[in-house]
Amino acid sequence: MTHWCLWILVHLAAGSPCDDRYAAWVTDREAFQRDDEPRYLSGLHVVCVWKEAGTLRLEAHMNGVLEEDPVRSELDGALSLDWGKFRKSLQGVLRFSKATNEWGNFHLKQPYGIFSEAGHRLSSATEVLDAGLVLVVEGGQWFWPPVRIGYVRGLPGTPYMIETVSVQPVVFRVRGFLREEECSVIIDMAESNMSESPVVQMEKHYRDNDTKDFRTSTQARLPSSDSSLLQELDKRISNLTRVDVTHNEEVQVLRYRLGEFYASHTDNFDPEYYQNVAAWPKFSCPEISLELLKDFIDKGHRNRLLTVFWYLTNVSKGGETLFPRADGLPPPEDMNSCERGLKVRPEVGTVMLWYSLRPNGNGDPNSLHASCPVEDGKKWSANYWVWNKPRDFSISLPDADVDEEYSGEQSVALSTVEAGNNVSATFRNEHPFPMYLFWKPPDRAQEAFLGEISPQAAVSMLTFPGHIWHIRIGADQSSELVTAQVITDQPKQVIVLSSDPEPDVDEL
Ligand SMILES: *[C@@H]1O[C@H](CO)[C@@H](O)[C@H](O)[C@H]1NC(C)=O
Ligand SMILES: *[C@@H]1O[C@H](CO)[C@@H](O)[C@H](O)[C@H]1NC(C)=O
Ligand SMILES: *[C@@H]1O[C@H](CO)[C@@H](O)[C@H](O)[C@H]1NC(C)=O
Ligand SMILES: *[C@@H]1O[C@H](CO)[C@@H](O)[C@H](O)[C@H]1NC(C)=O
Ligand SMILES: *[C@@H]1O[C@H](CO)[C@@H](O)[C@H](O)[C@H]1NC(C)=O
Repeated sequence: MTHWCLWILVHLAAGSPCDDRYAAWVTDREAFQRDDEPRYLSGLHVVCVWKEAGTLRLEAHMNGVLEEDPVRSELDGALSLDWGKFRKSLQGVLRFSKATNEWGNFHLKQPYGIFSEAGHRLSSATEVLDAGLVLVVEGGQWFWPPVRIGYVRGLPGTPYMIETVSVQPVVFRVRGFLREEECSVIIDMAESNMSESPVVQMEKHYRDNDTKDFRTSTQARLPSSDSSLLQELDKRISNLTRVDVTHNEEVQVLRYRLGEFYASHTDNFDPEYYQNVAAWPKFSCPEISLELLKDFIDKGHRNRLLTVFWYLTNVSKGGETLFPRADGLPPPEDMNSCERGLKVRPEVGTVMLWYSLRPNGNGDPNSLHASCPVEDGKKWSANYWVWNKPRDFSISLPDADVDEEYSGEQSVALSTVEAGNNVSATFRNEHPFPMYLFWKPPDRAQEAFLGEISPQAAVSMLTFPGHIWHIRIGADQSSELVTAQVITDQPKQVIVLSSDPEPDVDEL
């Protein structure tokens, strides 16, 4: 075969110029073991963008798994000039919306993030084209794809190896991340300042129980400003997590003596579950209302994204970190049990990294974890929490200014239709209760949630003839479908949602 024939064959077979780069960024579908959840990583999209004959082309493997039939589309070549338009168009093609998040108050959700393989946040279409392969993360922050259990990747520019120990929850181990001398220095700093570990009571499970049934360690918070070692670790960890240092909390050093433990819990805040936050560090009010807490954490959108857990000593026996929902296991009935689940043995200098949120920003209940009782010796460890938004409220979010998905008229899937045949559809809700608007893509079961229509209010959408809109009674795709509307070719349409069996469509 001549070189020329070979060249044609290779190019016919190739779906995109990124074909040989996907493997490190997509996770095996078989690695998702749970029967009660979708087998993918919600909200992490592996996307290839390239220029061909003057147009931008795109191929996307949605939700972090290799698809037989990935999304393929053309983007307007001129988009490379305007970042805001590029982002909007990309979002239209990938058909996701801020509202994949389950907390409501979508204006508080972070703008989505686009990252190169090196973990750098990209901020122009030219950078995206230069990168070729990019990770689009709906929750806004870098998220390491687990790929499969046992997958090991080097952290570029460093000697550290990141090893996947679980896919659901997403958990990694990095051995030798801290030097033994560093661990000793940290223990010394904390030792003189230990106090009883606080715990935020989970009302749902532990209303009448004393904190002691839940957590029995002692702890010390160490501000980085007091120590050059801690400042260096802030940077080392930020390089590992690919999340800026402004997102981290002061490290919380923990000491577990013989028999001490921490029952299963998650590290992120679920506003519905936490009521008495008196014990929460930095909160001194004895009674703080649920409403205030919801506001403080941006109604759930400002939250702990991930934990980097430091092992500062070896433990002779016990003291493992337990993930009771790993390996597809059901939620444990007894939060104090260390019998079932993935157990990680403490090893001085090793850190574990796990995600408490999914890539789309929702809480991941699989991230439930415990510290099993120490059976021999003592355990020193530390919690290092990284949030999905900067801790300082005055720092603005990157791309917030170009992300106007929820203001004014909204557009979807612009690239799938011809220019100029757009339609303005107004949905008017005459019911005394809110209704919820979803766009039903023609080729996918997953609907795009576009927002709430308040009682007696109207929402206008830029849409196209043939588009299908679903009106549901809840903000979740599983809630009851009230009606499905197919857009006609009238340039302006008003769809009135009332108690009539069939909604009225006024064609103006
Ligand atoms: C991490 O550090 C290495 C070595 O300094 C550097 O090459 C790399 O760009 C850093 N990565 C990020 C995401 O900051
Ligand atoms: C230790 O605790 C004392 C009293 O609570 C405090 O004044 C001091 O700043 C703390 N030191 C460190 C290193 O945290
Ligand atoms: C309190 O803890 C005990 C023992 O751990 C448990 O049996 C009981 O159900 C708990 N009470 C509540 C209200 O959860
Ligand atoms: C800790 O345990 C590891 C193996 O589990 C061992 O290689 C290392 O030497 C131990 N370190 C100390 C200080 O005991
Ligand atoms: C909608 O169509 C009009 C022409 O009917 C055109 O001027 C306008 O640019 C279109 N808008 C979009 C966003 O496609």
